Amino acid sequence: MKALPAPSIRVRLALALLPMVSPALANPPGSAAEREFAAVLQLQADAVHGEQLFDTCSGCHSGNGSGVSDGTVPAIAGQHFRVVVWQLVSFRHGQRLDSRMQHFTDKLHLNGGTQDIADVAAYVSHLPPAASVSNIIGNDTVHGANLYKGNCSSCHGASAEGDDQKRNPRLAGQHYEYLLHRWQDGI
Ligand code: HEC
Ligand code: HEC
Repeated sequence: MKALPAPSIRVRLALALLPMVSPALANPPGSAAEREFAAVLQLQADAVHGEQLFDTCSGCHSGNGSGVSDGTVPAIAGQHFRVVVWQLVSFRHGQRLDSRMQHFTDKLHLNGGTQDIADVAAYVSHLPPAASVSNIIGNDTVHGANLYKGNCSSCHGASAEGDDQKRNPRLAGQHYEYLLHRWQDGI
């Protein structure tokens, strides 16, 4: 009996074309949060509608999105669109835990579903980021800068500006205590 040839041209062609004909198979769906994140990116965001939705958020994050200076509520103004969307879907699907945020991202509150997430995130990301207001308490910021440069800047950027495409959060201007709390939580 003749040995079977290595994968036929037809099989190899089919494999090569698979990602083109079937993106779903090439990128198998991940968690519910990842699926909703991907769905948001397909939508046309309406920041004007987002401004109305932001009414609820402003009760905690304040009207200009600067949060609370003691770091109990983070600054979100000017955070990258994809970062805000990712955080909202993470809370909504229980991938990130905080009872306040899970409550306000559930489908009763952002009841326009995925479109509401897109709209409110567009509004938040267009708010001008607040200047840094942290009261850093006499720590060694020169040592901190070196540590940052060596360990963090490759993702968070030289000026801690973050990266929208890579979903890396802007850290610049974030309240000191909030950064500390996220860091201690192991993010
Ligand atoms: C009841 C108060 C409250 C309300 C209302 C609220 N948030 Fe938050 N939000 C918080 C707190 C507190 C955190 C930080 C949770 C933690 O410590 O992990 C947070 C975290 C976030 C984060 C993650 C920020 C980061 O850098 O990690 C985003 C984005 C966010 N909120 C957006 C919103 C939006 C948009 C709304 C309105 C739809 C909203 N929040 C409504 C209290 C609130
Ligand atoms: C490999 C890339 C990468 C490196 C290196 C990195 N981070 Fe991050 N960081 C991320 C991503 C991605 C997130 C968002 C995680 C999430 O909540 O989904 C994040 C989140 C954070 C947050 C929470 C921000 C917020 O708004 O909630 C803090 C604080 C943080 N990083 C600090 C640091 C520090 C300090 C260093 C260096 C010691 C560092 N990171 C190194 C990718 C990185």
